[in-house]
Amino acid sequence: MSQTNRDRLLHLREKALEGGGAQRIEEQHKKGKLTARERIDVLLDEGSFEEIGMFVQHRSTDFGLDKQKFLGDGVVTGHGTIEGRRVVVFSQDFTVFGGSLSEAHAEKICKIMDLALKLGVPIIGLNDSGGARIQEGVVSLGGYADIFLRNTLASGVVPQISAILGPCAGGAVYSPAITDFILMVKNTSYMFVTGPNVVKTVTHEEVSFEKLGGAMTHATKSGVAHFALENEVECLATIRRLLSFIPLNNMDDPPFVSPKDDPERREQALDSLIPDNPNKPYDMKEVIKLVCDDGDFFEVHELYAPNIIVGFARLGGYPVGIVANQPAVLAGVLDIDSSLKGARFVRFCDAFNIPLVVFEDVPGFLPGTDQEWRGIIKHGAKLLYAFCEATVPRLTVITRKAYGGAYDVMNSKHIRGDMNFAWPSAEIAVMGPRGAVEIIFKKEIASAPDPDKALEEKVNEYREKFANPFVAAERGYIDEVILPSETRPKLIRALQFLENKVDANPKKKHGNIPL
Ligand code: HXC
Repeated sequence: MSQTNRDRLLHLREKALEGGGAQRIEEQHKKGKLTARERIDVLLDEGSFEEIGMFVQHRSTDFGLDKQKFLGDGVVTGHGTIEGRRVVVFSQDFTVFGGSLSEAHAEKICKIMDLALKLGVPIIGLNDSGGARIQEGVVSLGGYADIFLRNTLASGVVPQISAILGPCAGGAVYSPAITDFILMVKNTSYMFVTGPNVVKTVTHEEVSFEKLGGAMTHATKSGVAHFALENEVECLATIRRLLSFIPLNNMDDPPFVSPKDDPERREQALDSLIPDNPNKPYDMKEVIKLVCDDGDFFEVHELYAPNIIVGFARLGGYPVGIVANQPAVLAGVLDIDSSLKGARFVRFCDAFNIPLVVFEDVPGFLPGTDQEWRGIIKHGAKLLYAFCEATVPRLTVITRKAYGGAYDVMNSKHIRGDMNFAWPSAEIAVMGPRGAVEIIFKKEIASAPDPDKALEEKVNEYREKFANPFVAAERGYIDEVILPSETRPKLIRALQFLENKVDANPKKKHGNIPL
């Protein structure tokens, strides 16, 4: 090796680490943001990162770009490990052209995405980008399209996780939108098709960055973000935790961890958790925590449509995807947002071999013009479709209400639930007792000498007959009525029993989920 080339290498390496220069790095820090390389260091196991393409530069000459070149061209790419498991990562550098995407920048991202697909490892994108590099024109648009295509082809093959760590616009939001999980940081990260200035020009609407596309906006209103974290370190730690539940690819098993919590643990507190009054709420998260290993529930999409709960946990060491109605919010009703949230999560779990465990207490679909006009029929059908097509092991526990179409939708036996349990407090019927008798005994009640008394009698008669799990159990729609305290051992034994389940859907190009 000639001394000159050795010196040149060391010089180039040093130069590449400078990104867009000390001043821009200082500005980045002042905003409470880390640099692209600092983020990778926090995300990956210490010292595990191997960089690819450190010396790549753009090839543009327009608008004076030939005089502005930065090694790496605004994105750091490579591979490393998280808890010893391999991942690929790209981290956009806002200090270089605002992290904007040039042709060369896109090529670097595509290169590691292609490798990830061949190797079957997750793709983690740390996005901090003003979108397509304006000076490059259509070439940068082409670069985004190359990434969108790979995001789509990789969907369901390897997990794709996107952290949004700065103001992301245009293509910088559409690529994350195709991925499986989006994490945002409060007060420093934004997602919008286009920013407040353009919004003002086009619609005359004045809106702040935060309100238009901040973390809380997307975590609560649009549902685009699955997590809204306090700071970047917390965000990167959340990616590590998320990965601890999911396999590296669609042929891999989710990571089993030898349980410290006794699989036979019977939680007596569950036996008195359901209120006597069927209209009184309770917190389904309590149920989930009492049942899961070590009470450890990793909730996804916590702030969006809280009338349904989704997230990961372990049962006897097996990772599971939990989908649960939340009677403490809107009585756990299924509406458009909760159907979309549930459907997307079910499909992720099914794509990646993660068994589904459903806790059900649902009074039905939310009626009314708002829901009907916005399409509760097609959106509710998404959740139905997602459960119907899922072939992973599927368990259901009906804790209380399972009414109407919602009974069918929430992983019922009829749509291939593998093991369906019900607590003695379960009420499985077409609708709640009062609504039902008001329809079927309308005339009888109206003509009774004391209509209120007649209504009460009929309600009690109906409750006695249908508002229990035994009629469904007689039919075999419920495999076993269990005591609430038996739930944990029953679910774990069912998971062990179903460990080698094989099921398939008819061969087809793809289905046509009601979008
Ligand atoms: C080139 C860009 C850039 C871009 C920012 N910069 N965005 N350079 N192309 N898209 C540069 C700035 O010139 C500046 O350079 C530096 O990055 C920091 O930008 P600032 O504006 O000073 O930062 P800030 O005030 O924080 O605002 C960030 C921003 C804003 C909100 C991202 O820059 C912005 O609105 N950018 C344009 C967003 C956009 O419309 N992109 C195109 C989307 S179209 P210096 O040298 O001063 O440091 C698209 C098509 C894809 O992506 C297809 C989708 C389907």
